[in-house]
Amino acid sequence: MPTKKMTDKEWFHQHLSDRSTKLIPYKSATPKKFNSSTVAWSTLLLLFVTTSISLAQTTVTIPVETEKNAMVLQTDNEGRLGVIYFGSKLANTTEYEGIPSQYNLKSDNAPTYNSCYTPAGTWNLIEPAVQITHADGNMSLDLKYVSSETKKIDANVNLTSVLLKDPLYANEVTLYYKTYYKENVVEQWSVIKNGEKKAIHMQKYASANLYLMGNDFYLTHYNGTWGNEMKPEEDHLSHGIKSIDSKLGTRANLLEPSAFMVSFDKPATEDEGKVLLGQLAWSGNFKLDFEVDNYNNLRLIAGINPYASEYQLAAGQEFTTPGFIYTFSNNGKGEASRNLHHWATKYRLLDGEGSRLTLLNNWEATYFDFDENKLVGLFKGAKKLGVDMFLLDDGWFANKYPRNADTAGLGDWQENKKKLPHGIGYLVKEATAAGVKFGIWVEPEMVSPKSELYEKHKDWVIREIDRPEKYYRHQLVLDLSNPAVQNFVYGVLDTLFTKNPTLAFIKWDCNAVIYNAHSAYLQKAGLPQSQLYVDYVKGLYKVLERLRAKYPTVPMMLCSGGGGRVDYGALQYFTEYWPSDNTDPVERIFIQWEYSYFYPAIASCNHITDWSKLPLKFRTDVAMMGKMGYDIVVDKLNEKDLQFSQQAVTNYRSISDLVWHGDLYRLVNPNKNPIASLMFSNTDKSRAIVFNYLVNTRFMPSATPLPVQLKGLDAAKKYTVKEINVYPGTSSSIQPSTVYSGNFLMTVGINPDVHLGRASVLLEVNEVK
Ligand code: DGJ
Repeated sequence: MPTKKMTDKEWFHQHLSDRSTKLIPYKSATPKKFNSSTVAWSTLLLLFVTTSISLAQTTVTIPVETEKNAMVLQTDNEGRLGVIYFGSKLANTTEYEGIPSQYNLKSDNAPTYNSCYTPAGTWNLIEPAVQITHADGNMSLDLKYVSSETKKIDANVNLTSVLLKDPLYANEVTLYYKTYYKENVVEQWSVIKNGEKKAIHMQKYASANLYLMGNDFYLTHYNGTWGNEMKPEEDHLSHGIKSIDSKLGTRANLLEPSAFMVSFDKPATEDEGKVLLGQLAWSGNFKLDFEVDNYNNLRLIAGINPYASEYQLAAGQEFTTPGFIYTFSNNGKGEASRNLHHWATKYRLLDGEGSRLTLLNNWEATYFDFDENKLVGLFKGAKKLGVDMFLLDDGWFANKYPRNADTAGLGDWQENKKKLPHGIGYLVKEATAAGVKFGIWVEPEMVSPKSELYEKHKDWVIREIDRPEKYYRHQLVLDLSNPAVQNFVYGVLDTLFTKNPTLAFIKWDCNAVIYNAHSAYLQKAGLPQSQLYVDYVKGLYKVLERLRAKYPTVPMMLCSGGGGRVDYGALQYFTEYWPSDNTDPVERIFIQWEYSYFYPAIASCNHITDWSKLPLKFRTDVAMMGKMGYDIVVDKLNEKDLQFSQQAVTNYRSISDLVWHGDLYRLVNPNKNPIASLMFSNTDKSRAIVFNYLVNTRFMPSATPLPVQLKGLDAAKKYTVKEINVYPGTSSSIQPSTVYSGNFLMTVGINPDVHLGRASVLLEVNEVK
């Protein structure tokens, strides 16, 4: 039921005049009424003018700032909060207040366009951020500013919260802006609270609603499919709405991730242009709307996909939306991506500032065809190579319906007695004896219709009871909205760790999407089916939360039949991700290049496999630009390849600190050139590693007629440049004793001399002291 009816003006008077005494000084980045004379005038006006509200009297301005950027929120004369600015911080922040007067937006409902959280059903005629049906069936919502505060979490992180309320119904929305000052990253989300006496239904509940001013906007988004992830497309945004979304449930990023870039005015390049990089930190269905409005500005609404996801909120209950993460740069995509890397390694990715294990995986080496003895033989290969760990992939489990192909066994997580008569414990022991750690593959969210779990617990499976089942990779998805299923999934991992305390690594796979989205659990609990997509992801996060509480440090790889699930919602529980099953090195250059805009190299699992017949050196050099691993049979390597690989593992160890913790600079873009070139330099600019790869094998006298200009060095320092990973029996054309200034290397550059006979060239740059 509505609360006591008030006119807009009455409501605004009550809330804002109450606030005026509580305002906190501007310096602490909290809302303010600008200058004391305004406040004095306001008091006078309040005393003498009760019938009208002036802008000067009521304006509240809230700057949300990082070191370089600001988003500024401001109330209009009826207490609705809009975004009045987004971009580089002004030198004199008191000037934010005057920004709206420079815009000439004329229409009855112009102030709704820049709403900081656009409600549906009142006077908004544009795409809403929030849409609800009240307990009495009414579908209107209005949101007015009530209060805000900024809390200092530490020297670098602030949390601004803004409370908005409906003047008529007892519903509240709190908008949260968590700012990472030095990294220039903002995480934004909302909390919707139902203060009504009965349940309300939310049709749309976005995390964030931005308003970007500019002349033109260009959206880079990604499409993909299995083995073909992260294919960029750049569109000029015209009037109307362009959306990117997923309805896949699990493995939500398979066809399109929520990661995107928006360039302002003209397409940004690596080092020039205004650009926003963002994504929704959510491992389920998402929808991002990019709406160029009548004023040519861009409205951006990001959140859980409203598709088939109406959510019921009981009386007194709150709903917290996932974080929308973004950064803005005035200096192109390179700086924006480094912002995200710095933020992710420090604040989001599990153990982002730590180290990673090099490994040998058996997936492409054996597929399902292995037994205990074969595996023990492979451990020796891992040791011979010099990697830290052996990773046992799919196929080790299930007895009644053995996992000898991808058609059976998922859900029955007991060791297959025929393949592994002495169990996992024996393998861990043998690996340790061989001098390597042991890790294991699981896909615990899934079930094969041919499994004992399916026979026992059909009610745990997401399926339409009266319709034919539809399979994706011959499997179905378990219903993680059900707490019993959450316990089961947790138990799969907990049992493995309890039985094998020295288990060093988990590869967590997820190979199916959700078909026939129906939950027997929600039905029994009397909850709407439309909550399944959301409650699935919440259930998954609960399991991961619980696991991390008990096993906080074990490295885990986030895998989803390739890169179907890479996002910052999941990556808070994982140390790394699998970008694609496609390990052809040329394909990987492009895939890894695009992922690198959003995720740091330390998280990118790059394996050397036999997928391609390109030389082992090329495959290895490509894997080295992230977290290197192998998926080969070491005993099949010829003498030179083995010698090269052993040296490569040693070289990787010596440069891994640069790749894992250095700053990434993209030098030559493979989408526009015959080569790809990128480098990582350390913080004090004393060391760097430069990767150069040929991506076009058509005849060219030279792929690098011009030198490649380096970045991220110190112009005043002196450096030598030495080629590493030189294949046995070949020599380098790079002179290691020549001393260059940083100025020379960044202005003139250095020629890596890439051609068909030297398809990949790794250059180590060291300061000469
Ligand atoms: C898909 C993964 O991406 C592969 O690396 C491998 O683990 C298979 N699943 C196993 O079924």
